[in-house]
Amino acid sequence: MSDTTHFGFRSVPLADKQRRVDDVFDRVARRYDLMNDLMSGGLHRAWKEALVAKLRPPKTRPFALLDVAGGTGDIAFRTVAAGGANVSATVADINGEMLAVGRARAQERGLDVEFVEANAEALPFADKRFDAVTIAFGIRNMPRIEAALAEMYRVLKPGGRFLCLEFSRVDVPGLDALYELYSFNVIPELGRLVVGDSEPYRYLVESIRRFPDRETFAGMMRKAGFARVAATPMSGGIVALHSGWRL
Ligand SMILES: C[S@@+](CC[C@H](N)C(=O)[O-])C[C@H]1O[C@@H](n2cnc3c(N)ncnc32)[C@H](O)[C@@H]1O
Repeated sequence: MSDTTHFGFRSVPLADKQRRVDDVFDRVARRYDLMNDLMSGGLHRAWKEALVAKLRPPKTRPFALLDVAGGTGDIAFRTVAAGGANVSATVADINGEMLAVGRARAQERGLDVEFVEANAEALPFADKRFDAVTIAFGIRNMPRIEAALAEMYRVLKPGGRFLCLEFSRVDVPGLDALYELYSFNVIPELGRLVVGDSEPYRYLVESIRRFPDRETFAGMMRKAGFARVAATPMSGGIVALHSGWRL
């Protein structure tokens, strides 16, 4: 029997998931940044800002960041802007369309960010190469989350920090019902209006529901080797920022 996993609420063969995820991001890439602003009411900017604030890129010393599933470059751009001249950022993403949008944005802004087409489950980088590794709204798309965590640990220097921003579980009474209604009704409709397709956004909402809760994901990080693992819920638990260190 072949291994199965979930693509949104659907059970699919493990080998099929990546192709389906790639298809989602092929379809949304051109409108990805606009849709993020519309769907989150601009909140995704504050969540990403919180990640970069926690990362605290240094002002003087050299610092190399790898942003996995970095898509159109938000985390990399913010990190380079927040740090000094010796801060460099590499975006790794499996999707060429998302990377193309990111490269064009970097060029527009005159930012020196490297974009690399790569699968998070088999990163094309040497062991212990990066001072920090981040992933924002990417890990839930991975067919093999454990493999991606192991790879991100492998390329991180000892003493380096891993930060993961991901949708989580709303734990504020009242907000949970409202969020549920918004997610399953408003978001796919927004997708239909802006991208001309509601399916990618149905996947988005379903994949959020399937992603493990904060404690379970913290356990997966520990199992991958990360130490001092901590989770910070934000916006009533809509998202969580997980932090861990390679010691
Ligand atoms: C929701 S987007 C997040 C983009 C960006 N990090 C942000 O926060 O705006 C998810 C990204 O994960 C990427 N992705 C999905 N599976 C991947 C994999 N196996 N390896 C690397 N990137 C992957 C997609 O191509 C997409 O760009």
